[in-house]
Formats: sequence, structure tokens, C-alpha cells
Amino acid sequence: MREYLEIEGRYSLSGTIRISGAKNAVLPALAATILAPGTFVFTNVPRVSDLYTMLELLNYLGAFWREEGDRLWIDTSQLEQAETPYALVRRMRASVLTLGPLLARFGRARVALPGGCPIGKRPIDLHLRGLERLGARIEFSHGYIKASAPQGLKGAEIILDIPSVTATENLLMAAALASGRTEIRNAAREPEVVFLGRLLGLLGVKIAGLGTERIVLYGRPDPSPPSQPVAIIPDRIETGTYLLLPGLAGGEIELAGAEASFLEAPLEKFRAAGLEIEVEGSRLWAYAPRRLKALEVVTAPYPGFPTDLQAQIMALLTQAQGVSVITENLFENRFQHVFELQRLGAQIKVDGRTAIVSGPTPLQGAEVEASDLRASACLVLAALAAEGRTRIYGLEHLDRGYERMEEKLKAVGARIRRKRDALELGGDQRARARGKAL
Ligand code: EPZ
Repeated sequence: MREYLEIEGRYSLSGTIRISGAKNAVLPALAATILAPGTFVFTNVPRVSDLYTMLELLNYLGAFWREEGDRLWIDTSQLEQAETPYALVRRMRASVLTLGPLLARFGRARVALPGGCPIGKRPIDLHLRGLERLGARIEFSHGYIKASAPQGLKGAEIILDIPSVTATENLLMAAALASGRTEIRNAAREPEVVFLGRLLGLLGVKIAGLGTERIVLYGRPDPSPPSQPVAIIPDRIETGTYLLLPGLAGGEIELAGAEASFLEAPLEKFRAAGLEIEVEGSRLWAYAPRRLKALEVVTAPYPGFPTDLQAQIMALLTQAQGVSVITENLFENRFQHVFELQRLGAQIKVDGRTAIVSGPTPLQGAEVEASDLRASACLVLAALAAEGRTRIYGLEHLDRGYERMEEKLKAVGARIRRKRDALELGGDQRARARGKAL
């Protein structure tokens, strides 16, 4: 039985959406609990499937967790093994974030090599080379990474070829228990990396340069969990996704619990396209008073325009007057959503890392299939602009990173429902349907 979202397009939206905690902040934060035996408490945690996959992984390693209202408790005092199995890595590549902390805490770690994913090959060579700089021995056997540092990790200077987000995070966590000084150059500057660095600071690690390309930290052998609950920062990608709603469906949207300072590049682009956006503290308002204008968009590491909003702004630009040019610099295969947008009637041409979007094109509801997390959000946005009914399959992608999306959208007037295919032809039914003898 396949689940799908059924969306009736062209209903103007209005009301308030509360932004959830950031998936890409809570995942490294949960991995960091491995570093300090004891109990951590987090609030503003996004209840998305990737969260529960990471909690399942921590439980597999020997940690215990429980939810109480808005609080998530994790106790890592009984961790008994340092192996992250393929079954979990396959389901969520961010499981590789356990490599640095497990190696730091136990002096060894065995983590399944993540494969590719729909948006690209996604190697982890920068993670591994950085760990070697910290004194680890890295071997590969039977699809697993075996890392060992029997004498413990030692601080070092690491220069990343690319400001990789999870490489920076893995190395910060490994260096947190290393003896001496570590300096990471060409470090990622994303707010989620800053959030992790601040959490390490709460464990007693001396750290400076967060949010810049040069982070310096002094490891400590015996960190302890923070004494106070830690609030997960708001999800800037969810915020950017919902800010676009008025450009697709009309009306006016208010977002609560957001952090506008994480979105300077997206806000500039959205306003250039014709969206009116106002900011007051943790609240943002968006509406689209006039015809949208075509844009040039180039994705880049933070603080540039985020690749995680590329699919979503492409949906918007199908409704903009003129020809837009979108260049995806981070991942080599992050245009899967183009083919589904074309099925809704969008005029898009792809040439290597560039997509040319002509608009405005009236979209028509159709059945579409999401290929990855942000592609699914893009298809929801496009469906809200499409005439008639759209069915979006592949909800397992959407549920990884958007908390209660259909509830949040329904509350502001969207005609959206989660349904199951009544007629799901199995093998023999399909054969019978074709009139063949079994
Ligand atoms: C993080 O992935 C995010 N995931 C991604 O969000 C996000 O798209 C990406 O950063 C870029 O912002 C999490 O934080 C869990 P990278 P990450 O390492 O760390 C290359 C979502 O939708 N690279 O910064 O894997 C890599 O191939 C997800 O929430 C290497 O070559 O991204 C890519 O071209 C999707 N070697 C570039 O760097 C390495 O060792 C940037 O990747 C590591 C990365």
C-alpha cells in the first residue's frame, strides 16, 4: 500500500506556521552525546524520521532515550560498542556522524561506508583524511570503515579541500577528546556547525572561530553533558520552504519560531523575485503582491544560497515572468525534481549543472514521484500552484526532514491530505489484470 499526498491546487493560503527545530542540527548534536557519558536533554527537537533513525542507532550502541513533552532525554553512560551497521547507514547517511565521536570515546570505531544517494556520490574522503591527521589509522574491509587510535587522538592542523558540513562536524567531535590544539581550515560555516560547536563548548571544550572558515579548539579527556536542556536551533530550510508558499499559492503566511539571520542569501533572492518579506524577531511574514520575476540562482556553501533550497526556488521560478538560470554547484545530480516538475507542465531545460526555467507556465495537477527530501518539498510547492489535483508519492523522503507538513499546510488553508492507494496491484493481481494465467 503506497502512501501519497493529494493536493488540490490554487487555494490562497493565510495563517501562521510554527517552524520546527533543524534536522541538520539535531543529528550532529545526537552524535555528540557519544562524547560525554551521562544524560543530555534537548528541546525544540523536530519529530522527523531521521531523528528516530539516529535514536535507533544510539540505542543500538547502548544509549537510552525517552521523550517527555517537548523534551528529549538521552543517556549515553552505558554505551557498550563502537559499531554503526550498514542497515542504519543505508537508511540515513548522516549515521556516518557517529564515526568521529565513537573513535574519540573508544579509541576505535567500525562504521559502514555510506553508498551514494539520489543527489550524488557523496564521498567521505575529507572525513577520513581529517581523522588520519588527528592520528587515526583508517582501514576498509567488507564495506566498513575501521578506524583506530589506540594511543588516543592528538590535536592537529587540518585543511579541508571543500568546506564540507558533516566532515567539519565529524572532525570537531573527534578533536573534542583529542589531546592538545586542533585547527580546522576551510571549515564549514553553516549555523548547524556553529550549533554543534557551541554544544561542544557546553561540554567544556575550548573552541573559537565558529561560523568562520578557521575553527580552533582544545580537546579535553573528560567532558560531561550540559547541566541545562539545550534548544535545537530553528530549521532554516523549512523556513525557506514555507516562505515561498505565497509565491505559489497566493495569500499571506506568517512563520513563528524562525531565525531570519540564517537566511540572508535566500531572503535576498526571494525578495528579488518579487516576494514581500518582513522580519520581526523570530517572526517572518511573506506575501506576493505582484508578478514574480525571473532570477539567476547559484548554490554555494553557507552563507551563499543553500543547495537545500534549490529545488524549492525552482518551483517558484516556474511561475516567474521570464527565463531563470539555476546553477547547482554542490551536488552533481540534484535536478531529479526537474523531470517531475515537467510532468506538471513546467518548462525547464537541464544542461549539466545548470537548469533553465521559463515562466510563467500554468501547472496542471498530475501524479508525481519524489526522489529525495528537498525534491519532495519542491513538488508540494508546485502542486499548490497547479490547477486541479496532484498526487505525490515517495513520502518516505518528505517525512525525513519535514515535521507534520500536511498538518502545518492544512492549518493555513491548503487542500492537502495523506492517503493510501486503495488499489495496489500485487504480482498475481497484476498478472490477472493482464488476463495471463499465473
Ligand atoms: C550536509 O550534507 C547536509 N546534511 C545536506 O543536507 C546539505 O545539502 C549539505 O550539507 C550541503 O549543505 C546534513 O547536514 C546531515 P557536504 P554533507 O559534505 O555534509 C563533497 C538535506 O537535504 N564532499 O557539505 O554530506 C560532496 O560530495 C541534506 O538535509 C567530498 O567530496 O554535504 C559535495 O559535493 C541533503 N568529500 C560537497 O562536498 C567529503 O568527504 C558538499 O558536501 C565530503 C563532502
